[in-house]
Amino acid sequence: MHSYSLIAPAKINLYLEIIGDRPDGYHELAMILQSIDLADRIHLRSNGTEAIRVQCDDPQVPVDASNLAHKAAAVMKEAFPEAFRRYGGVDIMIYKRIPMGAGLAGGSTNAAAVLVGLDLMWNLGLTQGEIQELGGRIGSDVPFCVAGGTAIATGRGEKLSPLPSLEGLYAVLAKYQSLPVSTVWAYKSYREHFQSTYVSDDESLIGRRQRVHAGAMVSAILHQDGAKIGQQLHNDLEKVVLPAYPLVAELREKLAQLDTLGVMMSGSGSTVFALTDSLPQAERIRQALRELLPDPHLGIWTTQLIGGGIRLEN
Ligand code: C5P
Repeated sequence: MHSYSLIAPAKINLYLEIIGDRPDGYHELAMILQSIDLADRIHLRSNGTEAIRVQCDDPQVPVDASNLAHKAAAVMKEAFPEAFRRYGGVDIMIYKRIPMGAGLAGGSTNAAAVLVGLDLMWNLGLTQGEIQELGGRIGSDVPFCVAGGTAIATGRGEKLSPLPSLEGLYAVLAKYQSLPVSTVWAYKSYREHFQSTYVSDDESLIGRRQRVHAGAMVSAILHQDGAKIGQQLHNDLEKVVLPAYPLVAELREKLAQLDTLGVMMSGSGSTVFALTDSLPQAERIRQALRELLPDPHLGIWTTQLIGGGIRLEN
């Protein structure tokens, strides 16, 4: 086949703990990542030229080599030069639904879809692990986005331990449309404020990772206990993003006044989400938040937690 359409779901962070500095300049993390059904659609087509071309229905999305979907195709071209010679370049069309600068891995999931799609288009027969390894060269969240579902992520975020899928949980997402937060800034700012709390020796690092694996959030997920999951939501980056972005802090406060299982910022923000255990309750939260904050620039989505990552469109 010369063209493929893929669904690329967003993620939220149920848990994000910053453990320390890494020799590669990144942070050592312990996270629990969760796919949601808010998704972009990616269409790939062989273009019979030597070019990698990206287009997007949202004019705000850059379509040059800085776009992670473009980077993913470039990584595949470099890793599989013979396949690139045989099949030629590719047109990548992104139908954008996931907001940008949102902490929802919108760019990373687009890159993951390109990796999965080119593996099919070029008949490479890669394993999921091989695709994830390529994904790690593009961004820390890309390996998770390939497989999706619910997973513990350690290291830079690329070391994954899958957890059972969460059934019957929903997330109401809220984000001011023109309020992105830079991930680079968020981590840099965290380091400036909290580096004295970082652990560096191997023993403490392993201990902190084990604490997450054996911790209350994983136990709540294993028991499919939505109320406990809501209580255990955690994100260290809130400590720097909320003080610097009063609108995000206000959004979080308003959501926390409503009848939800729990409220947290996702990734480096600026999305705040509330968990619920039914779709009607998620809808009620969406409407109640709209009444509390009638600003037309506030985007609100009701989404379901889902058990997988990149998939072909039916
Ligand atoms: O890996 P990715 O390019 O998505 O990361 C974006 C930025 O977030 C990095 O450049 C870095 O500043 C920060 N980051 C970090 N530690 C991680 C992941 C991301 O400091 N584990």
